[in-house]
Amino acid sequence: MRRSVDVVVIGDGVAGLSTALGLAATRDVLLLSAGSGSTPWAQGGVAAAYGDDDPLDHAHDTDVAGAGFCDPRNLRALVEEGPQRLAELIALGARFDRDPDGSLSRTLEGGHDRPRVVHAGGDASGAEVHRTLRDALRLSDVRTVTGRAVGLIKSDSGHIVGVLVEDDAGVSQVDSRAVVLATGGIGNAYLASTNPATVRGDGIALALNAGASLVDMEFVQFHPTALFTGNSSGQMPLVTEAVRGEGAVLRDLRGRRIMADVHPRADLAPRDVVARAIEATMRRDGCDHVWLDARSIPEDTIRRRFPTVLASCAQIGVDMRSEQIPVAPAEHFLCGGVRTNRDGATDVPGLYAVGEVAASGVHGANRLASNSLLEGMVFGRRVATALTLDLPPATMSRSSSLTLAEDREPERIRAILTEHAGIRRDGAGLQMAADELETLGDGPLATTARAVIAAAITREDSRGCHWRSDYPQRDERWNQHVVVRLDEEGRP
Ligand code: SIN
Repeated sequence: MRRSVDVVVIGDGVAGLSTALGLAATRDVLLLSAGSGSTPWAQGGVAAAYGDDDPLDHAHDTDVAGAGFCDPRNLRALVEEGPQRLAELIALGARFDRDPDGSLSRTLEGGHDRPRVVHAGGDASGAEVHRTLRDALRLSDVRTVTGRAVGLIKSDSGHIVGVLVEDDAGVSQVDSRAVVLATGGIGNAYLASTNPATVRGDGIALALNAGASLVDMEFVQFHPTALFTGNSSGQMPLVTEAVRGEGAVLRDLRGRRIMADVHPRADLAPRDVVARAIEATMRRDGCDHVWLDARSIPEDTIRRRFPTVLASCAQIGVDMRSEQIPVAPAEHFLCGGVRTNRDGATDVPGLYAVGEVAASGVHGANRLASNSLLEGMVFGRRVATALTLDLPPATMSRSSSLTLAEDREPERIRAILTEHAGIRRDGAGLQMAADELETLGDGPLATTARAVIAAAITREDSRGCHWRSDYPQRDERWNQHVVVRLDEEGRP
């Protein structure tokens, strides 16, 4: 059956839900859900400035973590609009944790100079944000459909005018005046990730095939402390940074502190610094994990603040109150993505992107902890406002579809990206990866992997989460963004 709506939003995480809710009153919206994304798995919380001086400080911390590579105007929107979006979420019924005096309880995470991260259910913040937005959406006129976007429709005039949706009944077409990609990151383009299996770069491939530009694709963030469950592959549960915020420290297998002499903030250094230090320790010692020692945290704090982490540890037979936690870095977040302006518009008319799939520039070269839910809330609203004020005109011209191919060898692609575009990279390895990927077809994983590799080869410099052992210094000549587009052969 062919349907027609004003706007299709692809993805039902915090960014997609915020966009759809923001449009519910003014536009006919269809929300496409391909299964649970990363939002409900987010643990830490929402970084939200408070008080008059904190937006500036929050922007400063974000830019320092981002290696000075953040877009100042978009960053300003993030930190200034964030508190209002948080207040609206609370008004919708979100139950964030509170101190005994009733004020929001705020914690510290890596890279923050003060406790500004609000959380829910201790360490189940994403689940509460997701529940709240889903409940609100159910009361709205937005229609939700389960299915995967397998193609975009482009008119002769170059506008995106619809989506091909695959579900149990087959593939059908939805016509629209705008399409918003809110598909999340690329976790499952790697062997080990903190993201659910549904998160695999579809939005990146859809956008690229449609002619959009990608930017900053080399900045793939690895969370320093994913729970090491015996092998470093598949979905690795998070051990939230907030555990370090409450006093836990990283140790090598001989019990020596890893971060003490690495950074003035020690275990609360920005994520890229901590992940690199762990990777170097594991390489030096030839081991597959290190320890996170949370035994100094009082038992009642652990129960109250970290029920999810406590349960994940218990599942592998570790009692984090009395034993050290085995952890290793795992792919966590794509800081770059589809290039957008401050209102989510891509280079392609009618195509918008928001949340992790988008490169709004607010994360620079390395995202600050707990800025991702915030980004989805702030930029979701901005896209909704833009499409409320100005919806692209309906087009009657002929159209063609840009359909995603199937990946031929997903495991091989994941292995290549993991080996050559992990925390530590070098030109020779990246070139080998590029050569082998040439032979592996054009599915979404292959396209995403090629885009990451192409950007990582181009940036002969180290900053944020892109660390090249053959160019270990930051090089000011590279104070520019790497843009990836399709070439004449249709490859990034
Ligand atoms: C965490 O809780 O450590 C992850 C939160 C985030 O990715 O910002």
